[in-house]
Amino acid sequence: MDKLFVEGPVTLNGSVKVSSAKNATLPILVATLLCPYAVKFDSIPDLMDVSTIIKLLQSMGVKLSQSGDETTLDATTLMNQHADYALVKTMRASVLVLGPLLARYGVASVSLPGGCAIGARPVDIHLMGMEKLGAQIQIENGYIKATAKKLIGAVITLPFPSVGATENLMMAAVLAEGETVIENAAMEPEIDDLADFLIAQGVKISGAGTSRIIIQGIPIERLKPATKPYRVIGDRIEAATFIIAAIMTGGEVKVEGFKPKHLTYVLEILKKMGADFVADENSLTVKKSNRLKGVAIETAPYPGFPTDVQAQMMALMSIVEGSSIVTETIFENRFMHVPEMGRMGARVTLKGKSALIEGVESLSGAPVMCTDLRASAALILCAMVAKGTTEIQRVYHLDRGYEKIDEKLTNLGARIKRVKG
Ligand code: UD1
Repeated sequence: MDKLFVEGPVTLNGSVKVSSAKNATLPILVATLLCPYAVKFDSIPDLMDVSTIIKLLQSMGVKLSQSGDETTLDATTLMNQHADYALVKTMRASVLVLGPLLARYGVASVSLPGGCAIGARPVDIHLMGMEKLGAQIQIENGYIKATAKKLIGAVITLPFPSVGATENLMMAAVLAEGETVIENAAMEPEIDDLADFLIAQGVKISGAGTSRIIIQGIPIERLKPATKPYRVIGDRIEAATFIIAAIMTGGEVKVEGFKPKHLTYVLEILKKMGADFVADENSLTVKKSNRLKGVAIETAPYPGFPTDVQAQMMALMSIVEGSSIVTETIFENRFMHVPEMGRMGARVTLKGKSALIEGVESLSGAPVMCTDLRASAALILCAMVAKGTTEIQRVYHLDRGYEKIDEKLTNLGARIKRVKG
């Protein structure tokens, strides 16, 4: 298992380009299961989660080819509609294959994802929606066994705007008969990107990015390859991580390749804390900030504060003046970075869904362990401002969702050494 050794404190300066968004890439690659032809992509990020989803698609018969920055996935013929536990258990997003398989073949057998480090994360909303579209669902031997002679469009009201359920149902509805309306849909930019991908294949979808998405089902013959390779949106979570890194280290950094409007709420909070930056349509430049102060945040579905930026924000809060409060409303166990940050001198007290963070003058390097993807990002952020060396173990969590993060930070002036193991 690789380790990172991070020397601090450093000041980051320069410019950095974010990769394509992991959370948009995963559902969009899965959506190729709907397409009886080869689909081309431009600049798919080199991430462990992306390799995992491609492996899963290949296990069903999808053919992969690569040439330079172009990746082609061809699902013209599939040999099975089965998503095995061995792959699904490593990544919850695998459950997204359910919708497209069911829509195209009328049958799917997908392992239940099970729990994960940050919470129980059931799939009841996905299944309820599939049933509304006419599927019969049974849980047998740890697998979701779904069948449908024909999916029929329906009005589906989600009890909670689940990102994954919205995506799964959008994909299922593409080949259903008639119109599907998803009410209380998730509004994340990644949903909008999935809709854009489907629209590029000839699907009629409106309302993506709002809480009411309407999909007109079409026969599979009406899906048509897009005229150019699809390029997924820039990763707003990676961008937020670099923005916070620049603010924490007191440097001037231009973060490029994403839309700052996708981070509107995060940026408002950073402004409130005293951070200084200028944004245009596709980039944001962090200026050297004056003294920063604590603030209270609560995670919420988009356009609220993203749970995926909560840990990084807490890293920043740990070194600003005064106290801050973070309330996590999306996942029940997403404070695993707290004890690790504590090892570096952060002062955080947990009480139920909330954390009270009292800013300290400085952090100090320590051996720490990654526990999940965003928690790992928070540890690197702390390590870059801490005095001395921080040894970060279990870096594979970080590699799931950040493309070459150690290289990108090093180019900005961080002192990070990766030791392969
Ligand atoms: C996606 C993101 C993840 C992000 C999360 C919330 C991907 C690949 N992952 O995950 O990075 O943190 O959105 O923004 O895009 N829930 C149920 N029943 C369901 C579905 C969800 O109870 O059927 C609950 C979950 O347990 C969780 C909450 O709803 O507590 C949010 O889940 P959801 O929005 O579905 O997140 P994911 O799609 O898993």
